[in-house]
Amino acid sequence: MIADTSHAAAVPDHVRGERVFHVAPSRALEGALRVPGDKSMSHRSIMFGAIATGVTEVAGFLEGEDSLHTLEAFRALGVPIERGGPGEVRIEGRGTGALVPPGHAVYLGNSGTAMRLLTGLLAGLGLPITLTGDGSLSGRPMARIVDPLGTMGAAIDTAPRGRPPLSVRAGHALHGIEYVCPMASAQVKSAVLLAGLHASGTTTVHEPAVTRDHTERMLAGFGVDVRVDGLSASLVGGQSLRATSLTVPGDISSAAFFLVGGCLSPAGASLVIEGVGMNPTRTGVIAILQLMGGRIEVRNERTQGGEPVADLHVSGGGLHGIEVPGELVSLAIDEFPALFVAAAGASGSTLVTGAEELRVKETDRIEVMVQGLAALGAGIEGTRDGARIEGGRLTGGQADACGDHRTAMAFAIAALIADGPITVLDVDNVTTSFPGFATLAAGVGLGIREMAASDGGASR
Ligand code: S3P
Repeated sequence: MIADTSHAAAVPDHVRGERVFHVAPSRALEGALRVPGDKSMSHRSIMFGAIATGVTEVAGFLEGEDSLHTLEAFRALGVPIERGGPGEVRIEGRGTGALVPPGHAVYLGNSGTAMRLLTGLLAGLGLPITLTGDGSLSGRPMARIVDPLGTMGAAIDTAPRGRPPLSVRAGHALHGIEYVCPMASAQVKSAVLLAGLHASGTTTVHEPAVTRDHTERMLAGFGVDVRVDGLSASLVGGQSLRATSLTVPGDISSAAFFLVGGCLSPAGASLVIEGVGMNPTRTGVIAILQLMGGRIEVRNERTQGGEPVADLHVSGGGLHGIEVPGELVSLAIDEFPALFVAAAGASGSTLVTGAEELRVKETDRIEVMVQGLAALGAGIEGTRDGARIEGGRLTGGQADACGDHRTAMAFAIAALIADGPITVLDVDNVTTSFPGFATLAAGVGLGIREMAASDGGASR
């Protein structure tokens, strides 16, 4: 994996959020809950439904800001999309020919997945569009997709240093390529494969490590012939998609906060997280927690929309530190903020290496977690590609999430190992992936309240 060190600030040009979490020291997470739908699958359900022919009905869609930006982007491209009851979406796909250039820039908020996958798809179609994002997204590296798409024949303009906004220029026909991807990134793999859908010839992506394979699985569900061979995926251009209906399972990345909280609860406490997606390219967090001595049982395994799903039973009792095996890193890449908290509450020390991709997420997640956990009393030292974390108890205090949804929820869960209250600053973006987090967490025993910073006496 290659770190893009030009992402120097933890979060560049960031407009501070106005919401904070106040979390009282909490003893245990107990009971049962269901987390919202998978974010990666929700994005793709809209994208693939929109370019398919026929009606795609989605259940369990994540009504978070990120996936709603993708939904609005396709409405702007002329696709009729209706929202029904909670998590229900109906997409009237009329094939790619029905997409029309929106004639204005499309804003994608905080979502790297929306920007990178849409760019690949629209570049393949030669459909002109300008895509913009918030301060965080505007600082994230896009050369990682612009370069391979350029090799395929696309013309994409960027801001200096390959940053957004991205403008896809009209009418450039693409040809397939064989791309050796330098970093473990499902977004890069997906952008190239989606461009390849409408390119001439075959497009192949070789990855350096296993990354989430929702694009490959879901395209197959929409009738596309995608060939997967070990770390390589390829497809022949010119294939069209047939509408299908699917149910999005609960997001394991959202379940991760409760898995960690459940493991850090005392012996005797038990928590059930129902209906969690168990795609094997996403279950690294369970494997890592089990290596740390976490008691997590996978029960009631079934298949839903081509993806494995299960209920996760977590028993309290604590964790011990480990050296996180390198091969699990890309299978748990979004769960490291929660796993850093697991390590901070474990006995002994934990070493994370090979996780330099964390530096180019919604924030520099190594930096934000090191600063925040240190402020809460943890012994933690950041490294180029990870961190060394000494386990124990936290004092509590104030941690700055820097506008990153996953660091915000991770610091909240740290209340299970804290002796004093925790205030988490700048948590507004939790709604990008987990609307209702504070209510759900409070329901299983976290002493959390969400409020406006101006009401909560938080100091910056
Ligand atoms: C995602 C891929 C991952 C992940 C992101 C969602 C996806 O990003 O961090 O939250 O849906 O393809 P990278 O591919 O950049 O690692």
